[in-house]
Amino acid sequence: MTSTPKKPALPAHETEAGRTLSHLVYRPWDGQIVAAAVRFDLAGKLAGGPLSAEAFAEEIGGNPRTVGQFLRACGTLGLVEPTECGEFALTELGSSLRWLANMALMQMGEGMWNRMARLHETVLTGRPVRDDRGEELYDYYTRHPRERGWHAAAMADLTEDAGQALAEQYDFEPYQEIVDIGGSMGLLLSKILPAAPHANGTVVDRPQIVEQARAAAGAYGLGDRLSFTGGDFFASDLPKGDLYLLKTVLCDWGDENAERILANAFRCTPPGGKLAVIDWVRSDDPTPSEVDIISISLEVVTGGRIRTEAEFVALLEGVGYRFDGMTTVASRERSRPWYVLRATRP
Ligand SMILES: C[S@@+](CC[C@H](N)C(=O)[O-])C[C@H]1O[C@@H](n2cnc3c(N)ncnc32)[C@H](O)[C@@H]1O
Repeated sequence: MTSTPKKPALPAHETEAGRTLSHLVYRPWDGQIVAAAVRFDLAGKLAGGPLSAEAFAEEIGGNPRTVGQFLRACGTLGLVEPTECGEFALTELGSSLRWLANMALMQMGEGMWNRMARLHETVLTGRPVRDDRGEELYDYYTRHPRERGWHAAAMADLTEDAGQALAEQYDFEPYQEIVDIGGSMGLLLSKILPAAPHANGTVVDRPQIVEQARAAAGAYGLGDRLSFTGGDFFASDLPKGDLYLLKTVLCDWGDENAERILANAFRCTPPGGKLAVIDWVRSDDPTPSEVDIISISLEVVTGGRIRTEAEFVALLEGVGYRFDGMTTVASRERSRPWYVLRATRP
């Protein structure tokens, strides 16, 4: 006779372990509440003063009961607070929502969310999750323009700070043709080109992104100095340049694919040409940290990870580059600097 295993005793909710576990288990919903607050423009709608649940429901065309519940949930997260007369007022936290709005929409969008729901599969297989159509994330984005837009906007938000820091602290003076591989909307080059007076810049990215980027690039005011080319960074011929950039691209890919991207860049670089990899770099310290959470999420959604300097050097030298060193540029907005791994095609 087999006996049914006994359910382990749960820690009481009041204990520290119980509270921590509940927090861990419910925390994902917090992100969805934040993303919904962004979708409904909570910060904008409450900027003029508190609103009742009914008034907010009317603003967004929602069900007054569930809108009321949603606003109370926003209150739990500290985005709004109830007033004495039962309305909801924006808090300081709520009014900062726009700061991470695109990131919230991207992370909580179905492309990422549905993949993260299958994290355990990646742990077992060592491969990124493919969705029910067998698609990887960037192929999924090809068919989902709204989420593709959120992704591009979230990347642009992250990159604005990096571009500013690089423009101020990195010497772009010697270069004439700068190619940003996987450069998305061109934000990095839009910050760098004003600090590179002799240079033109080209962004290479997927054709759908390039189409979007071209339409938006007028706002940079760089005219013909900035151009866009649709292509595949694994295989397409890249424009000739004397400096190639790869920002937050290699972290998306496992070693085999990262090598393919680097080998293709190497093939297209004239002798003496430079490469600057701007990416996350983890220390050799094995103490678990936030970097590990980001790294496992990269493994799941695209098959990437955050690498150490030594791992980057192995990748670069493996395809033929000479590694010239790693520079950090201080960020205005983050406590962590940006890392720049410099290499030359001999
Ligand atoms: C994580 S984003 C980084 C974007 C940009 N470098 C930045 O830091 O803001 C990766 C970029 O790689 C692009 N990408 C993905 N697969 C690609 C491919 N096969 N060929 C060219 N670009 C690709 C994506 O469209 C996206 O813009």
